[in-house]
Amino acid sequence: MAGFSRTLASSSLVLTSLVLFSISFCEARDILVGGKTDSWKIPSSQSDSLNQWAEKTRFQVGDSLVWKYDATRDSVLQVTKEAYLSCNTSSPVAEYRDGNTKVKLNKSGPFYFISGTKGSCEKGQKLIVVVMSSRRRYTGISPAPAPMEFDGPAVAPTSSAASFKASLVLALGGLLAWVLF
Ligand SMILES: *[C@@H]1O[C@H](CO)[C@@H](O)[C@H](O)[C@H]1NC(C)=O
Ligand SMILES: *[C@@H]1O[C@H](CO)[C@@H](O)[C@H](O)[C@H]1NC(C)=O
Repeated sequence: MAGFSRTLASSSLVLTSLVLFSISFCEARDILVGGKTDSWKIPSSQSDSLNQWAEKTRFQVGDSLVWKYDATRDSVLQVTKEAYLSCNTSSPVAEYRDGNTKVKLNKSGPFYFISGTKGSCEKGQKLIVVVMSSRRRYTGISPAPAPMEFDGPAVAPTSSAASFKASLVLALGGLLAWVLF
């Protein structure tokens, strides 16, 4: 009987660890712009445009955008709303030309990006990403229901890779306890 409840206890520990693990796993994602490599280009049609992709994607504080492109031919400029609207490449907020660009979405609200290649922004190579504030913060006790801002899977974000590692350790520890007892 004692053995049984111990098994039960360690099973629920494993379960808890796995839940924590998967929660951590869902947050702070690296999001490939356009969903695939070579998406940073002049769109061939409106339906192909990057903003259509962005509208269907959920961005949260802590996520990173990743661009993969040919660094000899293109670049990524982070710009103001005004520069975005007028395709003004002359004084970007930030400029990336390494071919493998990663930008951390470190605050909520809109981020504006345009191509640094002359004429490309005018032809639609631009992107607005609207980052949601993390209202579904995992507290460790019970995730309080928060108003849904968009349709999509519920994600309980915390903010760091450290918590990911912590729950991995916890999950492995739980598994070990389960095997041993
Ligand atoms: C582009 O932006 C710069 C800096 O804000 C400004 O000086 C320039 O006049 C703008 N160019 C155009 C064509 O609007
Ligand atoms: C976000 O990152 C940018 C560039 O690294 C930095 O200039 C800015 O201060 C950061 N904002 C916040 C709210 O941390």
